[in-house]
Amino acid sequence: MSGINYSDKIPNNVNLSEDRALQRALEQWQPNFLNWWQDMGPDKSQNFDVYLRTAVSVEPQGWAQFGHVKMLDYRWGIFLNPGVADRSIHFGDHLGEAAWQDVPGEHRANLRRIIVTQGDTEPASVEQQRHLGLTCPSQYDLRNLFQVNVEEGRHLWAMVYLLHKHFGRDGREEAQALLERHSGDANHPRILGAFNEATPDWLSFFMFTYFTDRDGKFQLCALAESAFDPLARTTKFMLTEEAHHMFVGESGIARVIQRTAQVMNEFKTDDVSKLRAAGVIDLPTLQRYLNFHFSVTIDLFGADESSNAAIFYSSGLKGRFEEGKRQDDHVLKGQTYKVIQAQGGQLVEREVPMLNALNEVLRDDYIVDSVGGVERWNKVLAKAGIAFRLKVPHKAFHRNIGALAGVKLSPSGELLSEAQWSAQVDQWLPSAQDRAFVASLMGRVTEPGKFANWIAPPAMGINRQAVDFDYVRFA
Ligand SMILES: [Fe+2]
Ligand SMILES: [Fe+2]
Repeated sequence: MSGINYSDKIPNNVNLSEDRALQRALEQWQPNFLNWWQDMGPDKSQNFDVYLRTAVSVEPQGWAQFGHVKMLDYRWGIFLNPGVADRSIHFGDHLGEAAWQDVPGEHRANLRRIIVTQGDTEPASVEQQRHLGLTCPSQYDLRNLFQVNVEEGRHLWAMVYLLHKHFGRDGREEAQALLERHSGDANHPRILGAFNEATPDWLSFFMFTYFTDRDGKFQLCALAESAFDPLARTTKFMLTEEAHHMFVGESGIARVIQRTAQVMNEFKTDDVSKLRAAGVIDLPTLQRYLNFHFSVTIDLFGADESSNAAIFYSSGLKGRFEEGKRQDDHVLKGQTYKVIQAQGGQLVEREVPMLNALNEVLRDDYIVDSVGGVERWNKVLAKAGIAFRLKVPHKAFHRNIGALAGVKLSPSGELLSEAQWSAQVDQWLPSAQDRAFVASLMGRVTEPGKFANWIAPPAMGINRQAVDFDYVRFA
């Protein structure tokens, strides 16, 4: 690995060509990353030339370079947003003090844990999506999948950079472990539950990029407030890439809805079996997938009451979403927040110290943001003259973390007995038959400009290219 031209091979703005310690750490890690990509990254696609954007700077205009590239040759880079001179800490017990350029000893363990937990989700999603290329609905969609995959790879690099640069030997060990846990692996699973779920089909992929990449956005936004300045700057740049991932999800589902609505109007029917026979995804099935991905994703924010959340905030490690725009004291001592729990056969609200409820605060901000896109999907239905509306389920529906874990509730918020739940769950969550039906639609369409029957083409291509551009050149 000696003689590498660092700024060419690894685009960066962290002065990598001068930083011997960082070079040594990366020389160890990078070959392992490439092995991981070959074993666990996109399946049977190593020789494809893919029209990808690569981050080459942090300038708002022009950080991205587009061109056909083999994914193994993708230039995963290291970028931090430019620092703000004299940045000070703007929340928690250290409010007003200078932001940290190095890791303070007393926060080292918690910061490492936060960085590792975030870092673990990035390769996990690549692993979850690795077989999807074999059933792509079009070249355009295949390219978007690969774009998301390489950028999740770069997000892993972003977290590994922090571990290598700021955490010494422990950091190098953690960076290695990020390549050794695998999504769904019984012995070495990924850290968070949703990242061990399968993403077996493209409907799941679009729901995942809409809902779960949006969890990524909220976690990154909270970390972008951090007193640890390198973490704040690195996550700010990651957010510019995350926007495209959520676009893939939102526009993907919108196109599924558009196609289904078209067939419903053509056949003048909402009969599920007729629509399935016509090869499109019926709206009740879409709603069940939505219920599943929404509920699994909101669990990612953690327990509604958490002393760790309080510690992370008060010590300045992790802020709230848009901390800087909020009009309060940014210390939050003595303030309260409402959480819900099931008690005596009903859901009741309880006031708890706000510092302990910060996971719930972030979850509630996330829910507001997710509902926005669901309303945009409903506009597609309204425009097609169809009365059906999609809806996010009650936040206590199908939860596995915190006080609501295991509570049996309908999507509209009605508490149920075990028997009532079992009798109706197939109306609310994807059944084995739903999943088999969706799987049956997943063919492979690769001719430029052609799309699978179950999804409408996009309104426009990527980077002002035509929809029928050759986004992927197959070897
Ligand atoms: Fe990511
Ligand atoms: Fe993402």
